[in-house]
Amino acid sequence: MINRINKTSDLKKFLENKIFQKILIISGKNSFYKTGADNLLSKYLKNKDFFLYLKKGYLPEYTELKEIIKLKDNYKPDLIIAVGGGCAMDLAKISSVFNLDKDLKKRVLSNDFSKIKTKVLAIPTTAGSGAEVTSNAVLYINNLKFSIEGIKVRPDYFCLIPKLLLSSKKLLDASAGFDAISQSVESLFSQKSNNESVNFAQKALKILLKNINNFIKDKNLINSYQMAIGANLSGKAINISKTIAPHALSYSFTTMYGVPHGHAVSLSLNKILKFNYFNQNESNCNFNVKKRYDYLFKLTKSKNINDLDNYFIKLKKNLKLEQNLEKMGINMKRDSRKIFFNVNQQRLSNNPVKILKEDIPLIFERY
Ligand SMILES: [Fe+2]
Repeated sequence: MINRINKTSDLKKFLENKIFQKILIISGKNSFYKTGADNLLSKYLKNKDFFLYLKKGYLPEYTELKEIIKLKDNYKPDLIIAVGGGCAMDLAKISSVFNLDKDLKKRVLSNDFSKIKTKVLAIPTTAGSGAEVTSNAVLYINNLKFSIEGIKVRPDYFCLIPKLLLSSKKLLDASAGFDAISQSVESLFSQKSNNESVNFAQKALKILLKNINNFIKDKNLINSYQMAIGANLSGKAINISKTIAPHALSYSFTTMYGVPHGHAVSLSLNKILKFNYFNQNESNCNFNVKKRYDYLFKLTKSKNINDLDNYFIKLKKNLKLEQNLEKMGINMKRDSRKIFFNVNQQRLSNNPVKILKEDIPLIFERY
């Protein structure tokens, strides 16, 4: 059960509650100081014993996770507050369910959680991953991406505070916002989707597509709040359905070339949408793929798949998400084996149409 803390006045009450005496905050330098989270939390934590850990890495990596778990075991907090984007939240979520022991890596990789979990409050500072409501977290070990999954990994509380979203740069907002959009689109087509996830994904898309351009062009408290709600709904959608091929492919672009997550996802969304559309007769899922496309066509006022393709091309242009792989230093021909070796097989298998690893270079060439 996850609880939403609705307003900052409720957050104040929540943190002043006597249950929480020792609090570990996991955040990033920018997410904590530039966003104003430090001012907000220090007011509410005046009479509390708290420790602030500022993450060093850009991605959630095992070596840093181990450091945080060690710190948590020594400090023994009764609450962890994650303030930041996906990385800070993933580190907080994973560290809340493990204690340091010699088999840590093995246990992390097999989702063998400790019996007792430390409660987690997630406060996102980007409108993107929806990680504040998902029961999985990303972890990189030696540049390979793993997903740590289990109901215990889901934060216990989350709070959406739009003013914390105001300071981030356009490129970060664009990447995070596109992540939320792609997650919602992918959720619609996932083999694991059900009525509930479709409902979340549709609500998310309505809000995100309506607000993203203004949010990037002229960010304010109102569109920041809308984007935070949209990203949250996209998190709720993929918490049920998981993501499909664009996410499966994205991790190589991030680890090999440092492309931010949402930007990395954007590189193949259109191609996969087209591939799935033209091969929908071969789909092996328990829903009508065409109906899901019809919904997207209606929402984006597209007459057909080419219009939908153009809609996302235009959106990515507005968001200034570079799509020219060469310009980004990505050499598909040279690196294709390495790129596709790292494809996330689990996410790929959720795709409505079966994709084999060897099909992927062709999808990039053809679509
Ligand atoms: Fe994502």
